[in-house]
Amino acid sequence: MSFDSATLTYKGKTIDLPALKATEGTTVLDIRALYKELDVFTYDPGFTSTASCHSNITFIDGEIGRLLYRGYNIADLAKSCDFMEVCYLLLKGELPTDVERKDFVKEINKHSMVHDQMHNFFKGFRRDAHPMAILIGVVGALSAFYHDSLDIKDPEQRDLATYRMIAKLPTLAAMAYRYSMGLPFVYPKNTLSYSANFLHMMFAMPTEDYAMNPVFEKAMDRIFTLHADHEQNASTSTVRLAGSSMANPFACIASGIAALWGPAHGGANEAVLNMLEEIGDKKNIPEFIKRAKDKNDPFRLMGFGHRVYKNYDPRATIIRETAHEVLKEVGGDQDPLLELAMELERIALQDQYFIERKLYPNVDFYSGIIYKAMGIPASMFTVLFAVGRTVGWIAQWREMIEDPSQKIGRPRQLYRGKQERAFKTVANR
Ligand code: SDX
Repeated sequence: MSFDSATLTYKGKTIDLPALKATEGTTVLDIRALYKELDVFTYDPGFTSTASCHSNITFIDGEIGRLLYRGYNIADLAKSCDFMEVCYLLLKGELPTDVERKDFVKEINKHSMVHDQMHNFFKGFRRDAHPMAILIGVVGALSAFYHDSLDIKDPEQRDLATYRMIAKLPTLAAMAYRYSMGLPFVYPKNTLSYSANFLHMMFAMPTEDYAMNPVFEKAMDRIFTLHADHEQNASTSTVRLAGSSMANPFACIASGIAALWGPAHGGANEAVLNMLEEIGDKKNIPEFIKRAKDKNDPFRLMGFGHRVYKNYDPRATIIRETAHEVLKEVGGDQDPLLELAMELERIALQDQYFIERKLYPNVDFYSGIIYKAMGIPASMFTVLFAVGRTVGWIAQWREMIEDPSQKIGRPRQLYRGKQERAFKTVANR
């Protein structure tokens, strides 16, 4: 890394803050010496101007709406790779040869089943439990079963945990859905592709052969690719922070699933569909746009806006195209919800409030329309986001664990509470 630096003077003392240049994107100022040298902290709630780590995995250019996985553009990967190739790329840093891909898929397939006793966990939940609540529980519980992949210092155990998580998330996700529907669990079938296997576990009935729809399989695979990683978003930062304490990998991924659930993050895809259904008709759009702009109204346009993208989220563009393909397949390419979403986007993007704040549709705006067309209920939307994002969480977790300079994450604070005061006995309170 080439260096220049900034200088900071405080209370008569001046220090250098070395500038660390990125291979793509924004230079960072290294402030690690700040507290020791000047006895001050920086203050950045929400981390709007803070780089928490260095990474080689994913790069986002928010100004132009560009997303790279290990240097490859997301549009090229979504068009020309399947999700297993993308998983290999994110984990190993290079696209696989045909043999490498086959060996990787074989490794993943070995672990697609879950310990049969895990079925008992599901029986403890109410049938109407939110599938994300179930997923957080059962993914964390994997550490109660797979004791031979908990030692994070052992590279072989890290690999085993990696393959197990990528392989088992779709199985557990499908089990959560089947349980909510009162349907028997469907075991994975390793002769199918990763995405076809997932759809099979979701929808196959023991009473008849399951006809795989190739358009749905391709759409699901592409959606997993589009959700696979996204640099230091809230859930990935949660996984890194949990991992920095040396917690086991299953617990770290469970923490990422918990963070993803929020409607400001991965929970937005479910919230978008609920919002579109609440809007109901194009004639109601102006009222909802007005509410989204009203500071006194907590309503926000779900699926719109992004901390990093100040342009169109490239994933939203690809998902919108995929929505047309899937809707055409189900004969509903005039799906009123898609029409409504596109009209909402059109009106919002002409409105000064959204233009000034550079608010565009994000990855969550159109994905729910595809899921609904494929017969997937809204409560499962964020679960699908978690299935796709698991490989990114793991790749980031591995990068952090394998970094020799890694330390436990422990931010400080700006204390605004009471100064020390004399204790009061009950009689004096
Ligand atoms: C994901 O980080 C990632 O990479 C996440 C993700 C990933 O792949 O991991 O991309 C996935 O989480 C996508 C985002 C999904 N969330 C939503 O769609 C929920 C709706 N969006 C907003 O809540 C919001 O845009 C966030 C949370 C996404 C971003 O919030 P920021 O960066 O903290 O922005 P902000 O709240 O400071 O907003 C800036 C301004 C504010 O207005 P002013 O105070 O300047 O007047 O824009 C307004 C906000 O009120 N604003 C919105 C809005 N989003 C921002 N106003 C109305 N509707 C919205 N959706």
